[in-house]
Amino acid sequence: MIKTFSGTFVLLLLAAGCAGNRDGDDFIRDNIRQAVAHHTRQTEIIEASGRVLNPRTIYEDGSIVYVPIEDWTSGFFPGSMWLTYELTGDDKWKTLAEKYTEALDSVKYLTWHHDVGFMIGCSYLNGYYRAGKQEYKDVVVQAARSLCSRFRPAAGVIQSWDVDKGWQAERGWKCPVIIDNMMNLELLFEAFLMSGDPCFFQVAVEHANTTLEHQFRADNSSFHVIDYDPETEEVRHKHTAQGYAHESAWARGQAWGLYGYVTCYRYTKDPGYLEQARKIHDFIFSHPQLPEDLIPYWDYHAPDIPDTPRDASAAACTAAALYELHTYLPENGYKATADRIMQSLASPAYRADIGENGNFILKHSVGSIPHGVEIDVPLNYADYYFLEALIRKRDLEKEQL
Ligand code: GLY
Repeated sequence: MIKTFSGTFVLLLLAAGCAGNRDGDDFIRDNIRQAVAHHTRQTEIIEASGRVLNPRTIYEDGSIVYVPIEDWTSGFFPGSMWLTYELTGDDKWKTLAEKYTEALDSVKYLTWHHDVGFMIGCSYLNGYYRAGKQEYKDVVVQAARSLCSRFRPAAGVIQSWDVDKGWQAERGWKCPVIIDNMMNLELLFEAFLMSGDPCFFQVAVEHANTTLEHQFRADNSSFHVIDYDPETEEVRHKHTAQGYAHESAWARGQAWGLYGYVTCYRYTKDPGYLEQARKIHDFIFSHPQLPEDLIPYWDYHAPDIPDTPRDASAAACTAAALYELHTYLPENGYKATADRIMQSLASPAYRADIGENGNFILKHSVGSIPHGVEIDVPLNYADYYFLEALIRKRDLEKEQL
């Protein structure tokens, strides 16, 4: 057979290869154009206000919801500015990224919830890596200290939420830990690299290990909330807050877990974390309720499937995680799966036209159905992980050239 390779055939193969790359480039370019167009409109509104506004989602009437800096999502829009700078190289986005990031400065002292990893990681850490902002190191390290103030050594976890007021108090929890908390560990690993303080590394690893032990079911799906006794390692409750039921698999929670363990593997090279990521992948992608376009319903056990909202944010986060997982296990087809998710997200079904959707890129995410908030709306974190996935896809495809 090899002898039959004619010059023409080789040329055809080369042409097909080039077309493949061109398709990839076109996909990246098209999505950059779209992101820039949305962000241009979004930032014109912010700049015209004379304030630093932080868009999170939209109200029912389509107007934009802005959040205070203490909100768990406050890092994503500044983060999207850094990602847009990375994708375009245009200093305009760097200037805006700096301004919106630096408005979050006092978040480094926030100790009343665990989300400083999202908030400071997406903003300051991106600035440090994508624009060499050395002066952002101190903010990252201080934020990591604040996060560690929530570490409960006897239980071996970082407590996610306080339990002294609101609906958290009503549940009777003592030390709730949500799977989302896995996303905050990157901040600790980075703070360790920046400061050399081994406590950051130890807290991250201990939290990841305790979560591995208690947060997953036999089918490798995760509970949303595990309530610990902070004085012992006793597990008091296995609950949900944002999922359909305590025993159900909330879609974004599965994505947070996958991304979290891939990230833990990046810093530790512990094969147990890689294995957990692989298992979470297998749960998601063998689930009979995962639709053909790979954008999950908001909960894998939602009773009204298929007449229930999808969650594009879970899909975007999953795609970003799979591109990194592919770099550790290149034979497993993770990039192809991530590419399929990205094709779906970039299709008219999920990607908004310019001037609609409150100037967010993606439609059809879910905040919390049990709380009756943000149902089938754009969310700033869906856009953030979509852009991060786009960068990872671009970089992987560049390497292949
Ligand atoms: N971390 C909160 C959420 O995923 O909705």
